[in-house]
Amino acid sequence: MPRRYLSGIRYSCVGLLCLTVLMISASAQSNSSALNDPRIDTRVNVLLNRMTLQEKIGQLVQYSAGSPTGPGTGRTDYPDMIAQGGIGSLFNLTGAREVNAMQKIAVEKSRLHIPLIFGLDVIHGYRTTFPVPLGMSATWNPNLVEKAARISAIEASQEGVRWTFSPMVDIARDARWGRIVEGAGEDTYLGQAIARAYVRGYQGTNLANPDSILACLKHYVAYGAAEAGRDYNTVDISHRSLRQVYLPPFKAGIDQGAATVMSAFDDLQGVPASANHYTLTQILRGEWGFRGFVVSDWNSVGELIPQGVALDQATAARKALTAGVDMDMESNSYGPTLQKQVQSGQIPESVVDEAVRRILRVKFAMGLFDHPYTDESKGNITSLDPEHVATARTVAEESFVLLKNAAVSGAPVLPLASSAKTIALIGPLADSATDMLGSWSTKGDPKDVVTLRQALSDRLAQSQGKLIYAKGTDILTNSEAGFAEAVSAAQEADVVVAALGEDAALMTGEAASRAHLNLPGNQEKLLEAVASTGKPVVLVVFSGRPLILDWEASHIPAILEAWFPGVQAGPALVRTLFGDANPSGRLTTSFPRAVGQEPLYYNHMNTGRPADGVDLSHPPTDAKEKYLSRYIDEQNSPLFPFGFGLSYTTFQYSSMTLSAQSLKADALNNGSAALTVSAEVKNTGTRAGAEVVQLYIRQQGTSVTRPVRELKGFQKVVLAPGESKRVEFKLGRDEFAFWNIDMKDVVEPAKVTIWVGPNSIEGSEAAFTIQ
Ligand code: NOJ
Repeated sequence: MPRRYLSGIRYSCVGLLCLTVLMISASAQSNSSALNDPRIDTRVNVLLNRMTLQEKIGQLVQYSAGSPTGPGTGRTDYPDMIAQGGIGSLFNLTGAREVNAMQKIAVEKSRLHIPLIFGLDVIHGYRTTFPVPLGMSATWNPNLVEKAARISAIEASQEGVRWTFSPMVDIARDARWGRIVEGAGEDTYLGQAIARAYVRGYQGTNLANPDSILACLKHYVAYGAAEAGRDYNTVDISHRSLRQVYLPPFKAGIDQGAATVMSAFDDLQGVPASANHYTLTQILRGEWGFRGFVVSDWNSVGELIPQGVALDQATAARKALTAGVDMDMESNSYGPTLQKQVQSGQIPESVVDEAVRRILRVKFAMGLFDHPYTDESKGNITSLDPEHVATARTVAEESFVLLKNAAVSGAPVLPLASSAKTIALIGPLADSATDMLGSWSTKGDPKDVVTLRQALSDRLAQSQGKLIYAKGTDILTNSEAGFAEAVSAAQEADVVVAALGEDAALMTGEAASRAHLNLPGNQEKLLEAVASTGKPVVLVVFSGRPLILDWEASHIPAILEAWFPGVQAGPALVRTLFGDANPSGRLTTSFPRAVGQEPLYYNHMNTGRPADGVDLSHPPTDAKEKYLSRYIDEQNSPLFPFGFGLSYTTFQYSSMTLSAQSLKADALNNGSAALTVSAEVKNTGTRAGAEVVQLYIRQQGTSVTRPVRELKGFQKVVLAPGESKRVEFKLGRDEFAFWNIDMKDVVEPAKVTIWVGPNSIEGSEAAFTIQ
């Protein structure tokens, strides 16, 4: 576990707590060690001993002070409740003064002066909005993700927010699920790396720094495996895939020091995630030693009633609390019902005490008892910091995935020649500032966004070019009223840029599952009309999920997946279209050919009847083609696979080497051996570019089936034209171990195939044995 050390933190206390002053000069503290610090535990226990049962329960209660994402409680009496010690945390309240006003009530009016924690969904930026998380993951650049999270923390904490409900580390393999946009895609290994990066960025070097915010790993657990991709739906997965696929990103975040976890909405194998003792207590606390606290999702405690494991709020509260949910977000179940249940002996007081301990421990670790207030002298954010904006542009540029770039008249359509004279810009996303912010841009301001239209018009003004803009259609409509104008714009232009895609708020994020994954409304029809002019078309897709782009991929020469890029959408796109930035994003989620392929992910198991090497482009014509694991009317493969993305330059892989032909399973298990794999990667083109070098393995002959390929390493390398680099990976216990037949996470003897290459379907291959 990486540890980050810091020095010179001084813990003191406020008000009556000064009776129990414990001065700690912590010379070597890390986020996780702060949660493990016995001196903090002593302070927690001293305080706990002074609390009434009612005050203890108050710490377990959280309410939203604004914008709901579910049915609200209707309560507004927060100031009174806080004064009585009846609330532990508020969320959806921002602004240094506003937050301080509430904090003042807690610190000055409540009997024990316990400060509140203020939370918010800071998902992909606070005011400086970065690309949506799926786009961030497409950078395959954890350092950049960390940097974006750090900036988010700096801005959020300036306005009093010290807790974000992020990162969402749910593995998502179904593009229908709207929340696929909020995570890092379909792969567990990448998901772990990205989870760590967010936690490092948000929490900084020390939770007690005023610009550190608590990370919250969500939604625990397996929420992304919702049946049929429908939000909030049942999850019924195997214990093995729970362990192997869905839990590891949470474990990675916790090992990195994440202080909080959010329990999910899903019914997990018959036991709702927010009442699941096995995942919340046995695994999270028992196996992993998590010392932070768990908050429920919005009303997920109350939802135990419709889910059917509780008939009333009191039972819902009891089940959630005893399972391990420490704080009740917004269901108003803990506050009104726990006291009676403790007094009647239905809930041991020790269970309440433990939940309170966890919350207070985090509050102490954050330094809230010493510095409960936000510094108001900086004021609220009124404009964006230029350095933050520059990072937003870099992240956006690195998130774009070039899906296709065919030649028209002998040369690839992209990058556009700087001499391009007349460009037609078409489509409902070309000038939509709001959509560029993506879903969950709580504090993002459309006024900060530079759209593609604006940036392209600025660019063409410099080169005496001409921009003809025609919206053509709305995102979701049947009206073709704007088609004629768009077609005539295309006719006048040298090249067409079509900005099409989803409505960020309506179609992506929470409660935004889709059963159809084509470009919405009549956008494809518009594209057909524009393409029929014969002008070269560059399609820029804005989406929060993989869309079905089969018609587009066979008719449009250039396609760039842009996700929702954030405040710098326009400049990042224009620099990419003109080649000032070279696309280096790679897909973190498979793009299907048809909805019927979902859930679709590259790291699936092999079947007994794989269809490898069989032409699946037509229905089976004989028994050999028929009795296979296949569709009769669609290919099995994705249209664009996981890990895929083009560049304006080309890369060549060669000289793959392994440090050994075989190693002993025992030695790998006990960490005394590891395999080093390396390959030479060369930029064979004429432009500088970044390649995401990916390492995959397959294990065969094992006690349980293993995926046809699994990502086990990646590195993003920047190469000048003609430059080569040897890229090296270390594969040890973490890479080879899996949950075996006895449900033990171990390395087993296996025949291993290793690939190093540009995506999940290509690469140089080598054989290796684990004996
Ligand atoms: C519900 C969402 O599921 C969760 O992700 C979010 O953090 C909470 N609402 C709080 O807004």
